[in-house]
Amino acid sequence: MFTNDVLLGSLLFASVAAWNTDVHNQIGFMAETFLHPHTTSILRTILEPQYNGSIGRAAAWADGFAHTDEGRFSYQWHWIDAHDQPPETCSLNYTRDCAKGGCVVSAIANQTQILKGCIEDVKSGSLTRGTNLTCSYALKWVTHFFGDIAQPLHASGRAAGGNFFNVTFGGVATELHAVWDGYIPYTAAKVTSPFSNQSIDPFFEGLLSRIRKDQFLEAPYMWLSCSDPAIPIECATQWARESNKWTCDYVYSRVSNLTDLASDGYAAGGVPIVELQISKAALRLATWLNKLVGAIRHHHTQQIIII
Ligand SMILES: *[C@@H]1O[C@H](CO)[C@@H](O)[C@H](O)[C@H]1NC(C)=O
Ligand SMILES: *[C@@H]1O[C@H](CO)[C@@H](O)[C@H](O)[C@H]1NC(C)=O
Ligand SMILES: *[C@@H]1O[C@H](CO)[C@@H](O)[C@H](O)[C@H]1NC(C)=O
Ligand SMILES: *[C@@H]1O[C@H](CO)[C@@H](O)[C@H](O)[C@H]1NC(C)=O
Ligand SMILES: *[C@@H]1O[C@H](CO)[C@@H](O)[C@H](O)[C@H]1NC(C)=O
Ligand SMILES: *[C@@H]1O[C@H](CO)[C@@H](O)[C@H](O)[C@H]1NC(C)=O
Ligand SMILES: *[C@@H]1O[C@H](CO)[C@@H](O)[C@H](O)[C@H]1NC(C)=O
Repeated sequence: MFTNDVLLGSLLFASVAAWNTDVHNQIGFMAETFLHPHTTSILRTILEPQYNGSIGRAAAWADGFAHTDEGRFSYQWHWIDAHDQPPETCSLNYTRDCAKGGCVVSAIANQTQILKGCIEDVKSGSLTRGTNLTCSYALKWVTHFFGDIAQPLHASGRAAGGNFFNVTFGGVATELHAVWDGYIPYTAAKVTSPFSNQSIDPFFEGLLSRIRKDQFLEAPYMWLSCSDPAIPIECATQWARESNKWTCDYVYSRVSNLTDLASDGYAAGGVPIVELQISKAALRLATWLNKLVGAIRHHHTQQIIII
């Protein structure tokens, strides 16, 4: 189900597909487990009924939509092309790097603002049963972009986010972007077929358990050091910068196009990075949504971890 590879050929297409769609679904399912019941109930009212209240099920919508005529304008919202030169120099500057027409950072800010109004509409009773598409789209975009911004190659300009950096993985000729979208997550989970798009996979349940037990190199509460929806550009820029830094610290510093990345140690070394980035995305998304709803206004951010 490496659709990115099959359809690669257009920079725009390739760049827009961050984590494979099933990985996006799983990030959404992880986030659901951290939602306050009040948040869950409000989000269910915003989403179209076909998703049955699940942001996990709705998390991949944005990739398909970006490839329709109607949604083409949102293509470029899935990444930010940093003017970086990894592995030598990493740098991300929102003012300089966010393209005219938007990028993942501005899109998070824009859709968060729209979603905020939608939540008020649900509270006041003027929005029911997922009937306002502006609102449903805003929630689906926010959910999706929290995943995208955590994918290191979605915050790097070199070789168009790695799409033009040819590599070999498991004997297959591919490119670096696809390696981080899918090959490394599947290596991490030790699976050969895609994850479910309907319910959480055991591998991602394992990540949830590690978040709850504080078993990452960096403590989960630190992932939330910037998590205030009132300053979305500032927070999203910080997250994008973290992703960008991985392209110097690992993605391009350890890569070789002469050996097979599945067996030369590269994939194994990438697993903890992917696990960390996916976990950050899920916890940040849930925290953001809880805060937007006002469900944790009076609690310390660490509270969210034990909800
Ligand atoms: C829809 O969601 C409800 C509440 O979470 C659940 O009980 C039900 O099984 C779900 N239905 C489907 C078809 O997934
Ligand atoms: C970011 O880029 C803008 C526009 O190019 C520039 O004015 C600003 O000084 C840069 N900020 C930093 C911290 O480099
Ligand atoms: C914000 O998103 C809406 C669609 O929800 C779009 O029409 C508008 O152009 C976006 N604004 C910016 C500044 O990206
Ligand atoms: C949908 O919700 C948005 C955001 O609250 C609002 O501006 C818009 O008027 C609503 N559209 C309809 C048709 O109610
Ligand atoms: C990468 O691979 C593609 C498809 O196999 C090929 O068209 C392209 O020329 C290659 N690029 C480089 C830089 O080798
Ligand atoms: C969900 O996964 C099933 C089984 O892999 C697939 O047939 C279906 O097209 C997927 N649905 C979406 C919306 O991606
Ligand atoms: C390997 O990467 C180097 C540096 O990016 C590039 O110059 C070279 O053409 C690549 N070789 C192949 C076979 O793609």
